[in-house]
Amino acid sequence: AEGASFPKQCVGPRYRPEKQKPTATVSTEVPFENVHTLPQTPQLIALLTMIRDKKTERADFIFYSNRIIRLLVEEGLNHLPVVEHPITTPVGRSYAGVMFQGKICGVSIMRAGEAMEQGLRDCCRSVRIGKILIQRDEETCQPKLFYDKLPEDIASRWVLLLDPMFATGGSAIMAVEVLISRGVPENRILFLNVIASPQGIEKFSKKFPQLRVVTAFIDQGLDEKNYIIPGLGDFGDRFYTM
Ligand code: URA
Repeated sequence: AEGASFPKQCVGPRYRPEKQKPTATVSTEVPFENVHTLPQTPQLIALLTMIRDKKTERADFIFYSNRIIRLLVEEGLNHLPVVEHPITTPVGRSYAGVMFQGKICGVSIMRAGEAMEQGLRDCCRSVRIGKILIQRDEETCQPKLFYDKLPEDIASRWVLLLDPMFATGGSAIMAVEVLISRGVPENRILFLNVIASPQGIEKFSKKFPQLRVVTAFIDQGLDEKNYIIPGLGDFGDRFYTM
């Protein structure tokens, strides 16, 4: 046959011999059961490469960040409970399906977390979204709660907490404390972020062992200004103003 001379695997992800395959940095592994890193596929690494590159301009940064955010939201939704939901298809056959159970809401940590709201809305029509503003107190240098606006019935919802960069963990810890103080059980919070530091992940996992973190990538660490490295710089600046 005409195709007989082709090597066996001439298409798809295994199309090249082992020594010609591109290598890429993949996420650091961490020993915490509550932390879920997205599968380190060539797609994801290519998307992360685009948003990490300092030469990437704002329009592309927004476009590629949105693709990663969409993957995070889809994976986050996998952690919500489902119930059996058998249905019948138009050809008269039955299908043992499932249906989401329970109510959800998003809570973004301002300002960068707001960049993740659209990705959540794209997957969950008319989802309620609350906001929390935490900033560093000039005098104490500690994170301080400046503002929050949360759905009134938040205690009965699953909460998807949104912040793309998880650096020292200070703001995220304070945000979770606000949610818990409003009656949200720790095990009903999912924290979605694009890039995390190992330090932030460790602090958070020890403090909130039942809360689930879904991240695209765990980086090497933090620099002296608490920026994630290699990181991508300031997410909010690159998404909104640069
Ligand atoms: N926030 C950012 O936007 N970038 C970092 O590297 C750390 C926190």
